[in-house]
Amino acid sequence: MAKVVILSGAGISAESGISTFRDSDGLWENHSIKDICTDGCLITNYDETIDFYDKRREDIKEKLPNKAHLEIKKLKDKYTNEIAILTQNVDNMFEKANCKGVLHLHGFLEEVRCMQCDTITNIKYQKQKDALEYCPKCNGKIRPNIVFFGEPAPMYEMLYHHLEDCEFLVVIGTSGNVIGVNRMATFTDNSILNNLEPSDAINDKVFGKVLYKKATEAIDEIIFDLEKFLK
Ligand code: APR
Repeated sequence: MAKVVILSGAGISAESGISTFRDSDGLWENHSIKDICTDGCLITNYDETIDFYDKRREDIKEKLPNKAHLEIKKLKDKYTNEIAILTQNVDNMFEKANCKGVLHLHGFLEEVRCMQCDTITNIKYQKQKDALEYCPKCNGKIRPNIVFFGEPAPMYEMLYHHLEDCEFLVVIGTSGNVIGVNRMATFTDNSILNNLEPSDAINDKVFGKVLYKKATEAIDEIIFDLEKFLK
């Protein structure tokens, strides 16, 4: 297991031009979680839900990774086994940065999944219905491979696994409303929190270092501290 855990959220991709969820004008200000991101919405609101994720997929097509993704990629190349990168983001900015082994805790926009047999197919930036109407394996109905509120999040197992051996936790760009980070930081010797501003869901006093600034402005200091720790 890795010694360093980097956990990111929507804030790390904000400077790539991808909307966050809870900041003003974030995605959840303009859409209802209940309608398009909650267990059951594929039954009660199938078309709108599919349309929402089709648009998100289309939206990331032209977006590019920013300095934060690129610097993390370089560090991961250098210390491959010592660093675990886990993200709540469903975008592909780390992948576009060619960063290997990123774990997506809440799913991945490029992918759709069969509701019957769970087969995953990468459809890149296509609209779901243009790419695939039914599962190529079992003919089941297709859905975005996104974890909705109230649904199991199987990748959390990996997060807990990595946290067991974690000696340095870095949290970038998450409000902490969905994945609580306070306890994680409490039990880790070294920790850095980077957000734009304080969040009601995060007790920043439990972090060793707090950087309230843009991720692209904080990343050099974060990498410096991590390199010092890993050398
Ligand atoms: N640099 C650093 N942090 C930033 C930046 C930036 N440029 N811009 C915004 N932030 C910070 C904000 O201060 C905020 O704390 O990013 C955080 C974004 O919080 P949310 O919008 O709540 O996003 P996130 O925590 O990733 O949401 C978690 O909620 O709806 C679900 O599944 C969705 O994965 C998502 C989960």
